Amino acid sequence: MRSLLFVPGDSPRKQAKGLESGADALIVDLEDSVAAGRKEEARAATLAFLKDIGAKAHRPRLLVRVNGLDTGLTDADLDAVVAGRPDAILLPKAEGGPSVVHLDAKLAAREALCGLADGAIQIMAIATETAAALFAAGTYAGASTRLAALTWGAEDLSADLGAETNRDEEGRFTGPFRLARSLCVAAAAAAKVAALDTVFVDFRDTQGLRREAEEARRDGFTGKLAIHPGQVTVINEVFTPSAAEIAKAQAVLAAFAAAPGVGVVGIDGVMYDRPHLERAKRLLARVSNH
Ligand code: COA
Ligand code: MG
Repeated sequence: MRSLLFVPGDSPRKQAKGLESGADALIVDLEDSVAAGRKEEARAATLAFLKDIGAKAHRPRLLVRVNGLDTGLTDADLDAVVAGRPDAILLPKAEGGPSVVHLDAKLAAREALCGLADGAIQIMAIATETAAALFAAGTYAGASTRLAALTWGAEDLSADLGAETNRDEEGRFTGPFRLARSLCVAAAAAAKVAALDTVFVDFRDTQGLRREAEEARRDGFTGKLAIHPGQVTVINEVFTPSAAEIAKAQAVLAAFAAAPGVGVVGIDGVMYDRPHLERAKRLLARVSNH
């Protein structure tokens, strides 16, 4: 998944518009973009949307962001939406593997009640929204086979840290947030799941979005969250491997295939060894997984 567009759970209009956006996934939000008094309405609208769109052949992946485990709202969120069989639940304010284990158990019980296969619904987690979460980033590996991706968040972390801002005058993340971003990409790699970059909230600034997405791809993220349909094209472009990159990866695979038992090959005067082979395989896996 390259682009994952947030759509507020209580806005059928934005849910419908999200379908037209070209995003690889929609994240129907029950958390921060829905006011406290509208949670019930949002749950009902989200279930209706999932039921309406779920069976369509050509549709984006459908995720639901529930409220965090310490809000007392997660159970009611899941009770409402699991029957719509979302592809995954996005868990905000996760604090490492234990949070994922907790959500896994909640999902398993509801899948059984709804007649869904155990494990049908995946989990993605926002891994850096609290200070404590930063110290638990290394604990996701092995928590649940449902875990498919980790992403990170800067807004809630700012509040928890008491930071005045999370970006400098040039729009780049300041130190504590760069640390969170790095921990996310390392946590995801350690857990062998995808790393997805956080939202870029200044949704009219396409140039800034492109820069941030390119930096994310450079560092190992394979997709980015979006908050506005106008961000989807740029994100998809940045995270789609180019024809040249695909050809290069195929050449690396071919060179290793042609030299079985060899640990290192040369192509066009450049050395390629095991890490390059792994990288080439991962790039080609991404191409077939959009
Ligand atoms: N998904 C689908 N459609 C969206 C959208 C989104 N995330 N954001 C905007 N649109 C639609 C609008 O409905 C509008 O279409 P319309 O006039 O036909 O209704 C069109 O795109 C243009 O919107 P625009 O006027 O540029 O923005 P806005 O002021 O209406 O909305 C936000 C701005 C930030 C409120 C809106 O983008 C939004 O709700 N984003 C998601 C917020 C969210 O889920 N946050 C949680 C994660 S951080
Ligand atoms: Mg939040």
